[in-house]
Amino acid sequence: MSKLVDPFQRRIEYVRVSVTDRCDLRCFYCMPEGFHGFEEPEDWLTHDEIERVVRAFTAMGVRRIRLTGGEPLVRKNLTGLATRLAALPELDDLSLSTNATRLAKHAAELQRAGVSRINVSLDSLKPEVFKEITKGKLEKVIAGLMAAKEAGLSPVKINMVVMNGINDDEVESMVEFCLEHGFTLRFIETMPVGDTGRNATDHYVDLADIRKRLAKRFDLLPGAMPGGGPARYVRVAGTDMNIGFITPISQHFCDTCNRVRLSVDGTLFLCLGQEDRFELRPLLRAGISDAGLEEAIRTAISLKPERHEFRDKPDQVIRFMSMTGG
Ligand code: 5AD
Ligand code: SF4
Repeated sequence: MSKLVDPFQRRIEYVRVSVTDRCDLRCFYCMPEGFHGFEEPEDWLTHDEIERVVRAFTAMGVRRIRLTGGEPLVRKNLTGLATRLAALPELDDLSLSTNATRLAKHAAELQRAGVSRINVSLDSLKPEVFKEITKGKLEKVIAGLMAAKEAGLSPVKINMVVMNGINDDEVESMVEFCLEHGFTLRFIETMPVGDTGRNATDHYVDLADIRKRLAKRFDLLPGAMPGGGPARYVRVAGTDMNIGFITPISQHFCDTCNRVRLSVDGTLFLCLGQEDRFELRPLLRAGISDAGLEEAIRTAISLKPERHEFRDKPDQVIRFMSMTGG
C-alpha cells in the first residue's frame, strides 16, 4: 500500500488521536470556564473504531501515534486502548500528552501497556499561579510527574506555554526543575486557537527573547532530539538536558508538517490552524470496507492545507484547542 503524501509533498507519518474533548482542568488559553459544549458519548469513537482507524493509517505508513485530549486520562480505560494500539505490529511509537493530574495512579500501567514516552503540560511551579492558569492543583501534577519518572517513562517532556506577565518570570526555575528531574523542557508560543487562545495572545512572548535570556544564565549548545517534531532544541552544557522552542507564531514550521489529528468524534483535522476536516465516523458506522476507509483517508489528506495563518488571519480557528489537543 503506498504511503500517505499530501498535496505539498509532505509525508504523513504521525497521527494525534484525541480520545476525549473533556478535561479536568480549565487552562484559560484552551477551554472557557463553564464550557459545556462537549461531544456526546454516542458520538465518541469506540476503542474498536479508534483501533480500526489507526490500523488503516499504519497500513499507509504511519508509524507514530500520540494519545491526546482534552485530557486523555479522563476517558475510561485508556490503558486498555493503549495496550491494543501498542500491539499493532507496524506501530513504532506510542506516546501520550497529558496534564498529569491523574498520572500518579496510571503511570506504571501505561508504561506496561506500551506507552513509551509522555508530554506533560506544566506552565507554572507556583501553586497559586498554576491555579490561576488552570483552576487546578499543582501538587497532583507534580505527583503525576514523579510517578512517570518512577515508572521509567522516558523521555518525560514538559510543555510550558510562556505568557508575558503570567509565568514568563519562571522560565529559569522551570529549567532548574527539569535539570533536577531529568526532564526535557519545551517552551511554546500562545496560539490564537478559539476565543480562549485569542485572549491569551495578549500575553504572547517571542521565544527568541526567552532563549536570549536563558543564554545569560545557562551555557546553551546546539542540540537535537529524535522524533522530527517542530521544536528546535538547545542543550545545557555539561548535562544531557534538552530545551526545545516551539514557535508557531514567530517562525512557523509548516513546511515539514508530518501530522494530522483525529478528534474524539472521528473527524480528521488536517491542520491545527485551519478548519479543513473530514468526517470518518459516518463512514465507519455505515460499515465501510478496509479499502474504502483507506481511500477516505487519502481523500482527507488531499485536503491538508499548506500552512496555518495564525498571523494573517488570527480569527480563523473557531474550535477550542481542547477539541484537537494541541
Ligand atoms: N496556545 C498554545 N498552546 C496551547 N495549548 C492549549 N491551548 C493553547 C494555545 N492557545 C497547549 C498546551 C497544552 C496542550 C494541550 O496544548 O500547552 O500543553
Ligand atoms: Fe486541559 Fe490541556 Fe486544555 Fe489545559 S490545555 S484545559 S490541561 S486540555
